Amino acid sequence: MSENKVIDESIQGEALMIEAPLRGNGKKLFLESYGCAMNFSDSEIVASILKDQGYTTTQNFFEADVIFVNTCAIREGAEQRVRQRLTEYKKAKKTNPDLIVGVLGCMAERLKSKFLEEEKLVDIVVGPDAYRDLPNLLLSAEDGNKAVNVLLSKEETYADITPVRLGGNGINAFISITRGCDNMCAFCVVPFTRGRERSRDPETIVNEAKNLFSEGYREVTLLGQNVDSYLWTGGGLKKENLSKEEQENATTFSQLLERVALVNPDLRVRFSTSHPKDMTDDVLYTIAKYENICSYIHLPVQSGNTRILEMMNRGYTREWYLSRIDAIRRIVPDAGISMDIITGFCSETEEEHRDTLSLMEAVQYDFGYMFAYSERPKTLAERKYKDDVPAGVKSRRLAEIVDLQLKHSAIRTKQGVGKIHRVLVEGVSKKSADKLFGRNSQSTVVVFPKENFKPGDYVNVLAETCTGATLIGKAV
Ligand code: 5AD
Ligand code: SF4
Repeated sequence: MSENKVIDESIQGEALMIEAPLRGNGKKLFLESYGCAMNFSDSEIVASILKDQGYTTTQNFFEADVIFVNTCAIREGAEQRVRQRLTEYKKAKKTNPDLIVGVLGCMAERLKSKFLEEEKLVDIVVGPDAYRDLPNLLLSAEDGNKAVNVLLSKEETYADITPVRLGGNGINAFISITRGCDNMCAFCVVPFTRGRERSRDPETIVNEAKNLFSEGYREVTLLGQNVDSYLWTGGGLKKENLSKEEQENATTFSQLLERVALVNPDLRVRFSTSHPKDMTDDVLYTIAKYENICSYIHLPVQSGNTRILEMMNRGYTREWYLSRIDAIRRIVPDAGISMDIITGFCSETEEEHRDTLSLMEAVQYDFGYMFAYSERPKTLAERKYKDDVPAGVKSRRLAEIVDLQLKHSAIRTKQGVGKIHRVLVEGVSKKSADKLFGRNSQSTVVVFPKENFKPGDYVNVLAETCTGATLIGKAV
């Protein structure tokens, strides 16, 4: 987790890169991840599968026997960065001809033939649902064959695999609760790279949370592309195909949230990502009921204009979105709210852009992740619409949105000054070795003098001042 508040594309999304040090049969793996939290979480599953093969990890790719790059395809920029890295790794092969380089994750399906045959950049290509096949693929690659498995699955949730926690602080951990996405937002490549949505057995989720707590972790983030559509029906079946009794026995997201919250009152629970069309009041009441479920909701809006939302196939209008915000403010009054916005989507006019700005004014988000639209292959938008907003216009609109968000973040942070915040300590402040940092329930970073506190402690901090997005105070 970063101490810095994330508010624009330059620091979010594809910029998240985690290098993690495992040894197999005397072999070393260098594993690098790009993209979202889900990718990071997948890398921990990959590390677990290879650890079972006896691999250890290394931080130095020059001493690696195997390099894996877990890739992101959400925007073109993310893909370009990965390509650059692969070119560097190809050079490392000159000094170590036995080195195996593999591409994992979201870029695998689309670019398999390019990577393997045309550019000969890599030896292994593995999609997000095929990680169990890695040991076989590695054997095949060691024999000098190109190894590929990009099959997507309707069932795979890696539910039985205990992730190896990589590069973390021992305090926060991710737990995947669903994989894939069935929403088909017009701009989004995820349904193509990660396949159909499926939910993971709640028993395995709760057990993972219990184990993390006993290992000292104090915060878990439940991850899914659309957590609100989480539904466990005993394996694979859609709700509409079940009998009434089976439907009643199914586990919904709010029920899952409650079960995880009950693991221990000192285990904080977060979740991401909520979808405005599916977020129920039940979830909000559950947040309000449990102190250890954080009062923080990431609710991507994408656009403040109903025509654009319709073209984006988001399944809600501006008014519906605002009514969900009202529900949050009513049921969880102290909630921190953040968003994702895409600017410059196909045919977006100046007036429609201003609708996005006015929606931001109406909500006053605590934080935001803001992006210029980037056309992605196979998506509905690529097939149906023209990417016709000029790059210069997109970047100017993005700058306006980022500026407004900076202003709102500052206002929201300031509202926390003079109040006492329950902070879960995550580590030593980057700026000052005698200060600690952590986050309050709303996910705002709070910095305060170290005294005798340590990571994993809960500390009540009186905020005395603030910078744009950080509260500064002292323990009380
Ligand atoms: N262009 C720009 N941003 C995108 N996102 C998803 N697809 C695209 C795209 N083609 C953004 C959305 C999503 C976030 C994870 O990334 O805002 O919520
Ligand atoms: Fe993409 Fe929409 Fe699914 Fe999010 S909900 S992963 S934006 S298709």
